[in-house]
Amino acid sequence: MPADDLQAFINDVALVVASSNDQYEITQRIAPRLSALLASGYQLPPEFLRPSSERHLTYPLYIAPDESWSLASVVWNIGQRTPVHGHETWGVVGIYSGTEREIRYVKPTDSAVGEPLTPAGEHEWRRGQVAVCCTTDDDVHSVVATGDEPTVGIHVYGGNIGTLNRPSYDPATGAVHWFTSGWDEPA
Ligand SMILES: [Fe+2]
Repeated sequence: MPADDLQAFINDVALVVASSNDQYEITQRIAPRLSALLASGYQLPPEFLRPSSERHLTYPLYIAPDESWSLASVVWNIGQRTPVHGHETWGVVGIYSGTEREIRYVKPTDSAVGEPLTPAGEHEWRRGQVAVCCTTDDDVHSVVATGDEPTVGIHVYGGNIGTLNRPSYDPATGAVHWFTSGWDEPA
């Protein structure tokens, strides 16, 4: 039963998050669990898969009651991209469908504000693949939906990712703009 698969995953992640304060350990333990969820053939309900023509969407699959972590379905329509942004927490992302290109940057130190960002590599992620996108010292990237269908990711983050105050960057100048993404309403 698909819904049971997701509930089992949520229960499992809750135990991992409660058992450690070490973001490296937490992310390393969540990654194989997310891989297993994706490999199980779990199907997200259709209301969490709908893209928008305007921008990528972030749907809440689960927000821990104490906001220690959250689970999101992130949906990009064909060709949509995020600004360069940080997360200010740990994160593990898996590709549910479609493909994405991730463009990473070195996280600027406070003293580097106002300097161009340093590129740190690019990677194409495909359906079923899982990556630790973020620890608080290394969490700056942009994401572009590639391929000819929308891209859907299942993302696990420390904290409530919809309400966290996060930086976006102009990579050419290093200028920072703080934002909260909010959550989109599954429709
Ligand atoms: Fe991101």
